[in-house]
Amino acid sequence: MHSDSGHTTSVWMDTTEVPQFQPLTQNLRSNVCVIGAGIAGMTTAYLLARAGRAVVLIDDGPIGGGETSRTTAHLTAALDDRYYNIEKMHGEEGARLAAESHMAAIHRIETIASMEDIDCDFQRVEGFLFLGGENTRKDLERELEATQRAGISDTQLVDRIPFKFWDSGPALRFPRQATFHPLKYLKGLARAILRDGGKIYTGVHAEKIEDGEPARVTTSDGHVISADNVVVCTNTPVNDWLIIHSKQAAYRTYVIGVRVPKGSVPHGLYWDTPDPYHYIRLQHAEDKSGHELDYDILIVGGEDHKTGQAADTEERFVRLEQWTRERFPMIERVDYRWSGQVIEPVDYMAYIGKNPGGDEHIWIATGDSGNGMTHGTIAGIILNELVQGRKHQWARLYDPSRVRLRATPEFVKENVNVAEQYKDWFTGAGAGDVAAIKPGEGAIIGRGRGKLAVYRDERGDIHQLSAVCTHLYCIVHWNDTERTWDCPCHGSRFDPYGKVVNGPAIVGLSPASPEPEPEKERDAAKQ
Ligand code: FES
Repeated sequence: MHSDSGHTTSVWMDTTEVPQFQPLTQNLRSNVCVIGAGIAGMTTAYLLARAGRAVVLIDDGPIGGGETSRTTAHLTAALDDRYYNIEKMHGEEGARLAAESHMAAIHRIETIASMEDIDCDFQRVEGFLFLGGENTRKDLERELEATQRAGISDTQLVDRIPFKFWDSGPALRFPRQATFHPLKYLKGLARAILRDGGKIYTGVHAEKIEDGEPARVTTSDGHVISADNVVVCTNTPVNDWLIIHSKQAAYRTYVIGVRVPKGSVPHGLYWDTPDPYHYIRLQHAEDKSGHELDYDILIVGGEDHKTGQAADTEERFVRLEQWTRERFPMIERVDYRWSGQVIEPVDYMAYIGKNPGGDEHIWIATGDSGNGMTHGTIAGIILNELVQGRKHQWARLYDPSRVRLRATPEFVKENVNVAEQYKDWFTGAGAGDVAAIKPGEGAIIGRGRGKLAVYRDERGDIHQLSAVCTHLYCIVHWNDTERTWDCPCHGSRFDPYGKVVNGPAIVGLSPASPEPEPEKERDAAKQ
């Protein structure tokens, strides 16, 4: 399958063809318009269509073509921010609701897969949090106690992960976690949405989202979808200018999929404790027609950095492979390398609910915090209730308008970091040499007082764009791995030709303004 969100191919894209849909060719009226066909949008659309609502779902790429095709799909309540931190920020009750909601999301995926007969490789497994970096057994003990206070009473401290080939040292064991194949799951949801009368359109870019009765979504082709409610599930909201984006930050994360002999690594979820941490799972290998092969794919991720703030993307894969080979000597070869985007909320919880700033009929789901598959499902569960005018017991914890985070060190740190990025207007790219840009590469080139994002395509043709992000005007950076222009401020991303592939920007990079004519030539032209 082709993904809009980058150049690399994940194991999920390589093993699934998602169904194709037509673009929108007329104006529509519906009860609910959902923007974004990733797990949050698809689950929301599925549950609302089940409840008898008229649902229209649109996406500018294929279904699952954003971050759902780039996840590693850990279905877990072992939250990487740690329950002792969540408890400090949201209280014991908040931590309890967080644990309850993620466990319920795993259960909901299992139920939907079974009820709808979706063959998505869902499998219950154990999760293990093991030590890395400076962390000690005491940290695990602290987390053990916090998870138990949060209601995950069956966590346990064990001496090691049950691997014969490597002694991990002490680990915290989480029973009843799970894995699945995210795109096979979305394929099944799409089938059920259509069966329940929902409409799905792809290749449709929402350019304007307005609250009202009805609310209105205007597409870049000029069609209008009017709906009682609009739900924005675009990974990071494209309808919000600043409120949400000052409360979360975008990171890139790197993943390799390596071939290991079947059964040589027990199926499970494994994470270490440093920040950034490594995350590991298994997936059985299969060919493009779904036939199982006689080896497994060990999927290992890590090496995170803020989006648009690292140039060494290729070295990150090298380090990841080295780390993996040191621990898993049975590796045969590397089959996959891909990267994805993680949105980190500054107080650990996703933002799910009414769009802040006074909107009445616009809803958002964002802030996956590295747990996108469960957060996306939690979003579906909560929004299904709220959009229908009912309450939900988790809604307060995930409320996008919550204010208890303003003074947190994370909030201050992330916003100082954003402010620092504006220095790129004055530093970085010099006049540069367009001739030095190789096919398939891009570079920021200074021109006068401005900056250009210059890409040379595989045929050798040059494409020049303004390097100014259309969200809040930071200068974008070239991402060599995914061949995208990435914004270091709030994580907007654009394809090499300037089309937006990740919000918060809602419109693409502008074409470069024509080069001012040198004075002499201009004067000559006047005569
Ligand atoms: Fe906000 Fe680019 S994403 S300025």
